[in-house]
Amino acid sequence: MSEINTAAYNYKVVKQFSIMTVVWGIVGMLVGVIIAAQLFWPDLTYGIEYLTYGRLRPLHTNAVIFAFGGSALFATSLYVVQRTCQTPLISNGLASFVFWGWQLIIVLAAISLPMGWTSGKEYAELEWPIDILIAIVWVAYAILYFGTIMKRTTSHIYVANWFYGAFILTVAVLHIVNSAAVPISLTKSYSAYAGAIDAMVQWWYGHNAVGFFLTAGFLGMMYYFVPKQAERPVYSYRLSIVHFWALIAVYMWAGPHHLHYTALPNWAQTLGMLFSIILLAPSWGGMINGMMTLSGAWHKLRDDPILKFLIVSLSFYGMSTFEGPMMSIKTVNALSHYTDWTIGHVHSGALGWVALVTIGAMYYLIPKLFGRKNMYSVELINVHFWVSTIGIVLYIVPMWIAGVMQGLMWRSANADGTLTYSFIDALAETDPYYGIRLLAGVIFLSGMFIMAYNVIKTVQAEPDADVK
Ligand code: HEM
Ligand code: HEM
Repeated sequence: MSEINTAAYNYKVVKQFSIMTVVWGIVGMLVGVIIAAQLFWPDLTYGIEYLTYGRLRPLHTNAVIFAFGGSALFATSLYVVQRTCQTPLISNGLASFVFWGWQLIIVLAAISLPMGWTSGKEYAELEWPIDILIAIVWVAYAILYFGTIMKRTTSHIYVANWFYGAFILTVAVLHIVNSAAVPISLTKSYSAYAGAIDAMVQWWYGHNAVGFFLTAGFLGMMYYFVPKQAERPVYSYRLSIVHFWALIAVYMWAGPHHLHYTALPNWAQTLGMLFSIILLAPSWGGMINGMMTLSGAWHKLRDDPILKFLIVSLSFYGMSTFEGPMMSIKTVNALSHYTDWTIGHVHSGALGWVALVTIGAMYYLIPKLFGRKNMYSVELINVHFWVSTIGIVLYIVPMWIAGVMQGLMWRSANADGTLTYSFIDALAETDPYYGIRLLAGVIFLSGMFIMAYNVIKTVQAEPDADVK
């Protein structure tokens, strides 16, 4: 094969997004720690309206999903598409526009959410002018990404690009359809849909945001970085294609599991439940394919902390995609819904899968981008691995216990039909678990500071010769 000219590749945008992944990770998780503290000490922010729980919570979710997760997806997709298609991005100008446009959106979110300007739709809270900006930047990203694929010099399209491609296309459709609204002022709009239809559109969006933003995109990441770091080919290319099509076909139908026992027609709830159960299979297809890529190389896990991040992230992916289908069963959901069990599930996916696979990929990527063979300190990566793993377990286990306890206390009735416990009784019992979760958040966040230190030191170090 002829020599590939990597010098022409646009690594600038990849570097920019990679650094911002670490920065927004710290910001988003810091806000997570603050809201965790507010649940433990409700008067923490002295009733200052901009810092109330209701305003900071969407700031946390937007920051971790779209700023931290989004930057990681932009960075890795724009790197992987160039490497696997063996061609530079089609336009450096467009790449800059995507980077600065996305940062502007994040800053606007950080201002507008504490101001209380919100559409009230979860994970789609930003008001209509920002929504329009998101659509423009996203279309630019799609042109950049697919344009690069079209001018590839390789004959086939590596499977990681299939996942990134599905993520880009689907998020565009989800965002545009769910954000349709009637503006009444610059900072307020009302959804174009009404009642139960609005709820259904919202959770079609919400669940597929999980499926395509938090899953398909990160599977793209997994399919590039796990084989690279393990120095092994993907376990089964056929399985990757089969579970790709199965995953995208099934995810679309599972949204109604967020609306069990609501005004949504019963058949739609049951349909959502069935598709959620089926979803276990394609999800585990991906998990098994990633894990088995290590066959014959398991010993590498012993002393490669980057691989530890990547493989443990897959275990959490497997765990949360087992738990999700169970929680979608209506009788189970009757217990779990509204409780902290959901929060435990969310963070086993969000911290265990999304954050760990991102951190692993960044530790692989950052030295390469800055011309170094390795991160400044491999030992610190190892410390970070253990700190984050302890943080995650300490977060999700108390949430599971608290969640089941809350569900059982709320449904417990006396012989005469009155409730055994008041809501306040359940809340008081939950308090210690909120304390442990706060501690867990502080631990996980401290790992991110270790990462930031390691990244700064790596960027400052002298470049090594011959790193491509
Ligand atoms: C097979 C895969 C999955 C299924 C079937 C599934 C199912 C569920 C169910 C039934 C709920 C509770 C809905 C409720 O009672 O309100 C839920 C909530 C949630 N799940 Fe999953 N889950 C899956 C995987 C994941 C993964 C991998 C992540 C994260 C990366 C995730 C993130 C979330 C989030 C953020 C919520 C909370 C939504 C909200 O109410 O705001 N899920 N999921
Ligand atoms: C230091 C790390 C983190 C801490 C301390 C933290 C804390 C919290 C807290 C306290 C809540 C509100 C729970 C409630 O309303 O009862 C929350 C919600 C949420 N967090 Fe985090 N979080 C962290 C990291 C992350 C990350 C990395 C992600 C995603 C990649 C994430 C995604 C979410 C989502 C989607 C929700 C909303 C869940 C729902 O509505 O059901 N979090 N987080």
